[in-house]
Amino acid sequence: MNVKPDFSKHANHAETAPAFLSVWDIHAYYGESYIVQGVSFNVHEGEILALLGRNGAGKTTTLRSIARLANPQVNKGEIWLDHQPLHRMSSYQASMAGLGLVPEDRRIIPGLTVEENLQLAQIAPPIGWSLERLYELFPRLGERRKQEGVTLSGGEQQMLAIARALARDIKVLLLDEPYEGLAPVIVDEIEKTLRIVKEQGMTTIIVEQNAVRALQLADRAVILDTGSIVFDGTASEVLENEQLRAEYLAI
Ligand SMILES: Nc1ncnc2c1ncn2[C@@H]1O[C@H](COP(=O)(O)OP(=O)(O)OP(=O)(O)O)[C@@H](O)[C@H]1O
Ligand SMILES: [Mg+2]
Repeated sequence: MNVKPDFSKHANHAETAPAFLSVWDIHAYYGESYIVQGVSFNVHEGEILALLGRNGAGKTTTLRSIARLANPQVNKGEIWLDHQPLHRMSSYQASMAGLGLVPEDRRIIPGLTVEENLQLAQIAPPIGWSLERLYELFPRLGERRKQEGVTLSGGEQQMLAIARALARDIKVLLLDEPYEGLAPVIVDEIEKTLRIVKEQGMTTIIVEQNAVRALQLADRAVILDTGSIVFDGTASEVLENEQLRAEYLAI
């Protein structure tokens, strides 16, 4: 187990970063509230990383920092995606650089059908998966292509939100609580598609309260506690470590 990794040796990070996505010493604030307190981790190409921790640990804030959203304010640190400095980009530029965030609230666009929601994502290049391929991945979306997106069930909306991210040519998929509020059989279905997406080479970060499900899917895990990393290692190490699970994940 690799508790509190030492990142000081990464001083010359830009040149030495071996990882596909590299988050290095980020500090993020909401106004005066200091939330993400020097978080560093790497994600290798094609792997699934579970970003875990209790409520309020800073998981969503970390994802929002990587996606360069206006809130929180990130005042320090570097984020590199496939040699591109995301920390110097706006959220729009980061999205063009290959970042695909699926936020917790899914953001399905009202008034648009399933297909129009997907087509909207493909308005500007670079375009990712074709509609045909997306409907093959999510047959339920194909069957409901003419239905208004917001009238889909929760699980189907989650599928649409993931499909919409893949409709653009992304390099990394960031999922914030994709299983939230969904029945186990729907979670099974989404998990299966995430495995297929991984087989196609996608790099993924999954934030989940359902830590066991996320760990079963993930290759590696990072655990956050009050804005700092307390564990960085393999998913199976967490599953096997009862003390770690009890202390930081309450499972
Ligand atoms: N917009 C905001 N303004 C001020 N504080 C915020 C804001 N969003 C989140 N916070 C605070 O930042 C801390 C971390 O929140 P964050 O949403 O990142 O946690 P989380 O790990 O995603 O939790 P959860 O598992 O409940 O989703 C919390 O204390 C939260 O109250
Ligand atoms: Mg959250």
